Amino acid sequence: MALSSSIACPLSLPLSCSNTTTVEDLCCFEYPGGTVLQTQFWDYDPATGPSDKWTVHGLWPDNCDGTYEQYCDKSMEVSNVSAIIQAHDSALLAEMQTYWKDYQGDDESLWEHEFNKHGTCYSTLKPTCGNLGENNENVYQYFRIAMNLYSKLPTYDWLAEAGIVPTNDKTYTKDEIISALKSKSGAEPYIGCNSDNAIDEVWYFYHLQGSLLGEDFVAIDTLTSSKSCSSTGIKYVPKSSNTVTPASPSSTGYVKLTGQNGCLIKNGKWYVSGTCATYTLTQLSTGSYTLKSKAGWCTIDSKTLHCGSDVSSPFEFEFDIDSQILVANGGTQFSAANVPTGTEQVEVTQGEGAVNFELQWNSWDC
Ligand SMILES: *[C@@H]1O[C@H](CO)[C@@H](O)[C@H](O)[C@H]1NC(C)=O
Ligand SMILES: *[C@@H]1O[C@H](CO)[C@@H](O)[C@H](O)[C@H]1NC(C)=O
Repeated sequence: MALSSSIACPLSLPLSCSNTTTVEDLCCFEYPGGTVLQTQFWDYDPATGPSDKWTVHGLWPDNCDGTYEQYCDKSMEVSNVSAIIQAHDSALLAEMQTYWKDYQGDDESLWEHEFNKHGTCYSTLKPTCGNLGENNENVYQYFRIAMNLYSKLPTYDWLAEAGIVPTNDKTYTKDEIISALKSKSGAEPYIGCNSDNAIDEVWYFYHLQGSLLGEDFVAIDTLTSSKSCSSTGIKYVPKSSNTVTPASPSSTGYVKLTGQNGCLIKNGKWYVSGTCATYTLTQLSTGSYTLKSKAGWCTIDSKTLHCGSDVSSPFEFEFDIDSQILVANGGTQFSAANVPTGTEQVEVTQGEGAVNFELQWNSWDC
């Protein structure tokens, strides 16, 4: 198989996230996404993939502090992942069709989403690195490397060896699940649970030596706290049993700013003297959330929140179900330059500023 041997990276370069001076060659040093995550799903309702396998979610380049960038390079986006993989390696495509599953049955759309949202953020996969721009070599390498790392992380088997198997008859503790996985993978992973306290995600974290193509991963502990799972009573639901009703994928409500008066109006700005705009919060099959007002989709453009008919692809938030707080690129901090007075509309910006708050979802659903 033709590997991209045209990229030979000096071993003298520091490990990702460990440099003390500027590294010039970002084809050989992953930046800013120096933390690589191999993420997996346990989809049981509807069930996807073999009943004794966790399935692939993606291969993500997160920042060194656990926040992340998304949709980094429009020019790298693709809409023909299956065709690209087929052209390079049909056995890899067959493996993906078995283990990299979309819970709504549209695998190609999940693959495109993962590459376009996360794959385009790898500095070491840029088309300008070596021959990665030829024949979508970088797209092929992204999926090959994701599958290869996944094959070394057999979550189902590791849990089963510790007596942790899917069942409707008992529950498990967070400690026993995490320590079983840590003892095999070499570092503490993140585990995620749904609103029913049933485990449905695991994320393994790495730093990287050289280009992603070298696959020289060093396991590190999770940068994200596994707080969506409670410490005891965690369910591990067999894929055969469709016992759980999925949470409503879409909810209507309004967005408040914690500790502040007023709320968001339909263009995404902060207003204190009128009624709150109605927003729809929708969960995608990948677990991310989109936000939409009567004006249109919401996005975060140059750090500023904006909703309108000009937005063609919505920003993908995460959502903390317990606190009902919106999370953007791994962070919850938003700010404004000042508190609005009278009928003033004030921009809401990602990150810290003069007036700081989080965005709190208030559902109108019963
Ligand atoms: C690490 O390298 C990146 C990329 O060159 C650079 O932007 C960053 O400032 C460096 N970090 C330190 C601590 O020098
Ligand atoms: C995939 O799409 C790109 C861009 O449209 C095109 O250049 C490439 O030839 C396609 N690859 C395959 C294998 O169809």
